[in-house]
Amino acid sequence: MTLETQIREKTRVFITGNCEGLSELSDALGHHSELELVGKTEQVREGAGALTGGHLQAILHATRSSALPVDEIAAIREYTQAPIVLLASGEASALLEEALDADVADVLLLPQLTENVVFAIRKASHAGRRSKDGRLRGNGRVITVFSPKGGTGKTVTATNLSACFAKNQGKKTLLLDLDLQFGDAAIMLGIEPDKTIQDLVTAPGELDPEKLAGYTTRHSTGLDILPAPIRPEDAELVTEAKLARLMEVAKESYEVIVVDTSPFFHGPMLATLDQTDDLLLVCGLEVPTIKNVRLSLQTLQLLSFPTERVKVILNRSNSNVGMKKGEVEAALESKIRFEVPSDRVVPLAVNRSNPAVLSDPKSDFGRAVREMAKTLLPAPAANGKRRFLGKNGS
Ligand SMILES: Nc1ncnc2c1ncn2[C@@H]1O[C@H](COP(=O)(O)OP(=O)(O)OP(=O)(O)O)[C@@H](O)[C@H]1O
Ligand SMILES: [Mg+2]
Repeated sequence: MTLETQIREKTRVFITGNCEGLSELSDALGHHSELELVGKTEQVREGAGALTGGHLQAILHATRSSALPVDEIAAIREYTQAPIVLLASGEASALLEEALDADVADVLLLPQLTENVVFAIRKASHAGRRSKDGRLRGNGRVITVFSPKGGTGKTVTATNLSACFAKNQGKKTLLLDLDLQFGDAAIMLGIEPDKTIQDLVTAPGELDPEKLAGYTTRHSTGLDILPAPIRPEDAELVTEAKLARLMEVAKESYEVIVVDTSPFFHGPMLATLDQTDDLLLVCGLEVPTIKNVRLSLQTLQLLSFPTERVKVILNRSNSNVGMKKGEVEAALESKIRFEVPSDRVVPLAVNRSNPAVLSDPKSDFGRAVREMAKTLLPAPAANGKRRFLGKNGS
């Protein structure tokens, strides 16, 4: 088991409102090892920026009112679907009754032991993974491959990794090409698709798993691909909102979703980040690439993207270009998690439209990709209960 799977991921919480005893409680929660207190605002609307984006796992809303704070709950719901735990002080027992019928996961009357509050938060965030009809929400793991520079090896990584998940690990895998203008994932796999992501998002009616299945194309490894639009000008039809829904549905249908991207932080990319479990940030041994990867790391921090989900890949790591891995790590102030060697088999494979991990599995490149795939999706535990790890490692 890797160190990361041993450490339970923290539950990301945001606190809104105010009531007696809240400041002591929020200090205690801020120091608790199982929680990440993302922020706190008395007025819900002041927290708009931090509340949006779908990254929060629970909201604690404190109220002084003895009635259900309907307006505040509605305001929170404009920004996030995360479960809401209500906190109240004093004799707010009327509130309990009302809350049972409302969109509230739990109600706690302060003072409470910190551990009780943490337990309620974890319980609510876990239940929050179920959708309204009680079905478990999709648990597919989303692995996004990004680099701020063109030509660093995003598509090579995304196609080889996804082929490896499907063929070697037998995972139900989707490769989603979000390089919306100039995507070439399909061509690298030798697939000539009839339908693309543009056809899917512009088709009438609600998107569900059956509909998604009608728009993907199957590769011989069993991998499904949803290609980029054929014409660059159609990219803008794939809006952030459409993509957010697409990701939700894909997570229901697939065990793993690999997302190839373009070198920009545009709307669709931000919608994907919200759902991303592992962000593979592809770096090379050239100074401009390193500079831009460093800037990307800073941007991700500004976007409150959890640092532990970012994994830097050093592609063409063995190139003799007067720069060493250690120097890259120092410049990035971040560890390199995976190294992929430069290998002749890669351009050969690209030109034959067959991923190198399939055409030359014994090559150094093939080995590196298989190792990376195994680290990202470890084999199920010996007792066979877990097939793959979800967001909370559960
Ligand atoms: N490890 C490697 N060894 C040898 N060649 C490589 C390796 N990785 C990538 N390449 C070569 O670099 C070229 C560019 O890679 P790729 O298309 O994956 O980059 P990209 O980051 O997706 O670029 P873009 O931003 O333009 O989509 C590939 O055609 C491939 O031949
Ligand atoms: Mg590419």
